[in-house]
Amino acid sequence: MSEKPQSKPDLVVPRSVAIIMDGNGRWARSRGLERIRGHEHGTTAVRETVEQCAELGVEALTLYAFSEENWRRPALEIKLLMALLKRFLVGERDNILRNGIRLVHAGRRERLPADVLAELDRSIEMSRDNTGMTLCLAIAYGGRAELTDAMRAIARRVQAGEVQPDEIDEAMVSRNLYHPELPHPDLLIRTANERRISNFLLWQISYAEIHITDVCWPDFRKQHLWAAFEDFGGRTRRFGAVVP
Ligand code: FPP
Repeated sequence: MSEKPQSKPDLVVPRSVAIIMDGNGRWARSRGLERIRGHEHGTTAVRETVEQCAELGVEALTLYAFSEENWRRPALEIKLLMALLKRFLVGERDNILRNGIRLVHAGRRERLPADVLAELDRSIEMSRDNTGMTLCLAIAYGGRAELTDAMRAIARRVQAGEVQPDEIDEAMVSRNLYHPELPHPDLLIRTANERRISNFLLWQISYAEIHITDVCWPDFRKQHLWAAFEDFGGRTRRFGAVVP
């Protein structure tokens, strides 16, 4: 399979796509730029990917924009990343609404700056009734944190006598995740040739197909998305069973 089809091939479009947008820093450094310039250019890739996924009929797109672990980055980089997120939320609001996209957030809210939260909540509220693609921004997100939060919620119900421990099953865990209504990813894309999960959607990606590209996120364009979908279309999904 070529990495970059020149024209849109016949694509099998996954219902749910998740992306680990990696390589912003490397992209910038290899050009002698500050890391934040990579994040800035990454916003263009976000815009194009969101637009393209919505156009192709993806039902849910989850983007890993900031992990719980990213709080360990230098304060200045965090500040600039938060400013970029805010700028994206404000600048893309009209586009999101015009395209019928519903925006949701996955992650912990506590440490997010108030102004970012306000814009996030505004976009979420304004797009609440949209019926097109759901764009889930994973910000201050960690897969272990999400599972821990789900366990706490279930434990509280056990403590209240509403649930017996034996009644806890996979469906109940799923219902207690941040967005139980979202289909679990069929396809997980990671850029910049890293072969890690990095604490992303640990429960939800159990049966996701994984596509890794060496393209750094700021260079990711629709051709690379098509290549990922083409790769996905060639996979035989068995979900643990035997395919005759
Ligand atoms: C990983 O690259 C990327 C991030 C931690 C941030 C992703 C943010 C954006 C793409 C921009 C804003 C997002 C939205 C949704 C508007 P890295 O810095 O770890 O790259 P490196 O591994 O090359 O250092």
